[in-house]
Amino acid sequence: MKNKSILSISFLFASIVFVCCSKKNPTGGSITNPPATSTPLKDASSIPVGVAVSYDLIKNNISYSALVKAHFDRITAEYQMKHGAVVRNDGSYDFSKVDDLFSIAQTAGLTVHGHTLAWHQNNNGNYLHSLGAAQVKDAFKNWIITMVTRYKGKVTGWDVANEVVVDGTGDLRTAANSSGSGSDSFYWADYLGRSYIDSAFVWANAADPSAKLFINDYNLEIDNRKLDSVIKMINALKASSVPIHGVGLQMHISINTSNAGIDNAFQKLAATGLLIHVSEMDVRVNPSNTTPFTVTSALLDQQAAKFKYVAESYFRNVPPAQRYGLTVWNLTDADSWIVLSGKQDAPTLFDAGYNKKAAFTGYMQGLQ
Ligand code: XIL
Repeated sequence: MKNKSILSISFLFASIVFVCCSKKNPTGGSITNPPATSTPLKDASSIPVGVAVSYDLIKNNISYSALVKAHFDRITAEYQMKHGAVVRNDGSYDFSKVDDLFSIAQTAGLTVHGHTLAWHQNNNGNYLHSLGAAQVKDAFKNWIITMVTRYKGKVTGWDVANEVVVDGTGDLRTAANSSGSGSDSFYWADYLGRSYIDSAFVWANAADPSAKLFINDYNLEIDNRKLDSVIKMINALKASSVPIHGVGLQMHISINTSNAGIDNAFQKLAATGLLIHVSEMDVRVNPSNTTPFTVTSALLDQQAAKFKYVAESYFRNVPPAQRYGLTVWNLTDADSWIVLSGKQDAPTLFDAGYNKKAAFTGYMQGLQ
């Protein structure tokens, strides 16, 4: 009860701050200039709506955390549950922030989608590159089993294999065909071959049979060779009785992304029979990286229409039994990974002042 009353007070405070102090939406947005609907997104949708969050912001920023709790059912940690965030340079594990994130989620009534077990980026490259080749498989297995076991029964699912095929060719991702070469890059396939993907799913399923296990990738709505390669991989994993349950379309798109491509990706992936997760949606309004860049109402209206289209297409093309949910990546334009990477854009549902944008209204309409 104590936690609940604190939560109610904080939400009330945030709402008062939100109503009385929020500036007029500085970025305009005129698609039926967001009506004063107070309907939470999660109440508009018949399926879970998620958001990727920053651990630091959901822990320390009351406006941010209140908005997450008000509108979403589920969170994905944009960084905190990745290898590089948990594994120390000596190979030991620091679960402190992840444990705290699960505590925050539980108190707020939010579920958690685990992200991500096997990715070529955001690893502790110092540790992994210090290993001999013969030690890599054990380190990989230990990472997956340790992480999935610790949060057994606490996640709705895991992104087990993330971005495992490359753009354009659909080939298995390796260091030779990928551009990421930062200190956090590590290409599991170079050490373990294609079967690292099968192993990751098998180990994760053994550690937590309740978790839905996903393969996850981007540009499936614009790159047919990549889409077909992911489908081919899904079919191969299923044929080998690998426990794969779902596929995530990251859906990092823009106002220029083809609606037909969005439909095509949903239709083809739904045909696999797997759960379908829109796992990381944001919609760029400045896909050409024009600088300087000024957001206009016209661009915001196009963005709203695109958020609406994705939601509508999902409901139109994904059968009810396969609807795992829709997740947007980051909460406001100010904390968007795209903006924080230095690009001038406004890719999310809320502006830097935590105000609903036209995109929120469009998305809400698509979810209904
Ligand atoms: C991004 C996070 O948002 C950043 O905070 C982090 O620094 C880098 O990774 N596809 C993915 C996500 O699967 O894990 C990435 O998230 C965005 C692209």
